[in-house]
Amino acid sequence: MRKPIIGGNWKMNRGTPEECRNMLKKLIPLVKGINAVDIVIATPFTALTSAYEMLKNTYIKLGAQNMYFEEKGAFTGEISPNFLKTIGVEYVILGHSERRNIFNESDGLTNKKLKKALYMDLNPIVCIGEHLEEREAGDTQQIIKFQMNETFKDLTREQILKVVIAYEPIWAIGTGKTATPEQAEEVHIFIREFLSQKYDKETANLIRIQYGGSIKPTNAKDLFKKENIDGGLVGGASLDANSFFQIIKAAFKSD
Ligand code: PGA
Repeated sequence: MRKPIIGGNWKMNRGTPEECRNMLKKLIPLVKGINAVDIVIATPFTALTSAYEMLKNTYIKLGAQNMYFEEKGAFTGEISPNFLKTIGVEYVILGHSERRNIFNESDGLTNKKLKKALYMDLNPIVCIGEHLEEREAGDTQQIIKFQMNETFKDLTREQILKVVIAYEPIWAIGTGKTATPEQAEEVHIFIREFLSQKYDKETANLIRIQYGGSIKPTNAKDLFKKENIDGGLVGGASLDANSFFQIIKAAFKSD
């Protein structure tokens, strides 16, 4: 059985220590004792230390939203995976569509970051997903396959087992348009088949694949009910403690 994982991607919000603390003060008591679902909060870099202090005695794991693939040196404005490790970060989101589309990050760059994150023992959450025009042209599977070939290039079985994949159709991110559970499940099955061919069936069945894109308390349950959807990566709705808590509760497969 794969343990569901719910990530809160705060993006460029709640980035001051005070905003972060206020948010976590509300969330921590709500999710107290929940261990059947992995919960990750990815704050802006400026709030990581404050978040760490508040999360260290809870089950909630701390995540960053990006990193560079070098540990130190002349890389103005970049963040070292080593810095992240040192301040208690356990997860890192890589290849988010906003990194790809706004900051022109390629699959190749994401692959380098991914290998470095694994080397540093950070747990990567790697995002893939198609644009609306690609879906409408019937190219979704081709795009997903290409992204996975490039992003997961040269990863061993041991390495891929540590990766959480987030399928995030770009047309559903921050738009209020969610993929239907059937649309999402279809791509999740495709991703698992790809992994099964590249590695083996057992490996593919162990890897967690999250859905992301306008997840809300009202649609979370139907998405998470699908066999191949192992939780979600949540943007907007993770900024409200109560909404995020409802989404976490929706990830309990047994209900
Ligand atoms: P959203 O963002 O939930 O606001 O659509 C999801 C994401 O970008 O990870």
